[in-house]
This record gives sequence, C-alpha cells and structure tokens, in this order.
Amino acid sequence: MPSLDLGVLISGRGSNLQAILDAIAAGRLDARVRLVLSNQPGVEGLARAERAGIPTLVLPHKGFADRHSFDDAAVAALREAGADWVVLAGFMRLLTSTFLDAFPHRVVNIHPSLLPSFPGVDAQQQALSHGVRITGCTVHLVDAGTDTGPILAQAAVPVLDGDDRDALAARILVHEHALLVRALSWIAEGRLRVEPPAAPGGRARASIAGVDTAIGLAQGGRARGNVGDVGDVGEVGEGA
Ligand code: GRF
Repeated sequence: MPSLDLGVLISGRGSNLQAILDAIAAGRLDARVRLVLSNQPGVEGLARAERAGIPTLVLPHKGFADRHSFDDAAVAALREAGADWVVLAGFMRLLTSTFLDAFPHRVVNIHPSLLPSFPGVDAQQQALSHGVRITGCTVHLVDAGTDTGPILAQAAVPVLDGDDRDALAARILVHEHALLVRALSWIAEGRLRVEPPAAPGGRARASIAGVDTAIGLAQGGRARGNVGDVGDVGEVGEGA
C-alpha cells in the first residue's frame, strides 16, 4: 500500500497534528505531512509544524470574499504540496463542495463526541450540559453537513463526577490522539471501504475492513479495543 500524503488543516493548538507527526516519526503511521494549513495566523499548531520541518501556509479566511474562494485557494495549495488526503485537526471552518469535490471521500475529521450526539462547537460542554455519563470521540469522513459524514471509528470516554469542561476535554483528547492516528493507519493499510447511499438522498457509509473500530470501556474506564492502551481515566492529562 502506498503511504498517505497528508494535508492537515488546523485553527489552533494542533495537538492532534502533533499526534500525527509523532506517530509518523515513531514509524507507527505510514504517511507524510505535505502541508499544514491554518486559517488563523500565529497559532501553536503552526509552530509545531515548523519545528517538524513541515511546510506551512496561513490563509486568513477573512481575506476571502466567500467560502468557495477560500476553499479554492486551499485546494490549490494542497494540490501543489502533493497532498491527496486531508485531515481536519481542530479546523474550525465548514468546507464547501468546492473543497469536498476535490478530495472525494478523502477528508477525515476528528470530533470530540460520539456522533451523531453533540455535533458542532464545544461538544464537551454540550455533553456535560446534557448530563450524559459516556461521551467520547469520533473519526469520520467529512461531507457537506456539520459533523455528519460517514463514521470510521469511535472511542468511548466516561464523564466523571465533578468534571468541568476542561477536565472532560483533556480526558477525551488523549483518546482523540490515539483514535485519529489509528484510523489514519487503517486507511494507509488500504482498509477503508466507502459505500455510496443505497437510495438517492440516503447516507454514504464507511467501514474499516478487518478491525474492531468500536473502542469501548472496560471496568474502571480503561479503554478496551483496537486503539491501544491510553491509560486509566484517572491519570490522563492534556495531550502533547
Ligand atoms: C479537538 O478537540 C478536536 O476534536 C476538535 O478541536 C480540538 C482541536 O484540538 N475538533 P487540537 O488543535 O488538535 O489540539
């Protein structure tokens, strides 16, 4: 299988980007990051890319007349850089058909909830406000909706008594890093299958051949499944 040529889109901290870079450096992910593109200047994720010697580009979205012209510029830059898969790693913008049609079924997002629960911004606070006892994270292919695309893998994370938004977000984030890297490695292994909608207007579905993509909780909240050991829930903290 050929390795993945990734473009990574960010808007901020870039810890999921860092997880990808660390996994590549450690030989756990057969990929190269061709370009890190941010719609926000000066963010931590850009510094992470620069430290790793990865080309970066800032496209401030306010400088574009509309979403399509921003997406046109992003597609051109990603193509120029040689990216053929795109990862949204904390990228806080909706993409239009201009972008999605350029990378059909090749745009991957990490979201900090068990979709379809709590799409959109601040999924962790949404989960807390709703009072759910289990939340988690989802890796999915991006479609034109907000966090609605075909699901590839999910990991469950407990909500603990006394959690505030930041404590819950930090616990989920550790699983995000592991799940995103694992999902990308499954794609690099050629395991991704995308089924078109069964009927017009229906939903496309995605699956990963030969692995368990549902990461559950064993007694005590320890992650159980294919994602690898990410530690007891009581001892996780902010990611890299
Ligand atoms: C993560 O929680 C991700 O799921 C969400 O935004 C956050 C980005 O974090 N979409 P980082 O920039 O990767 O550290």
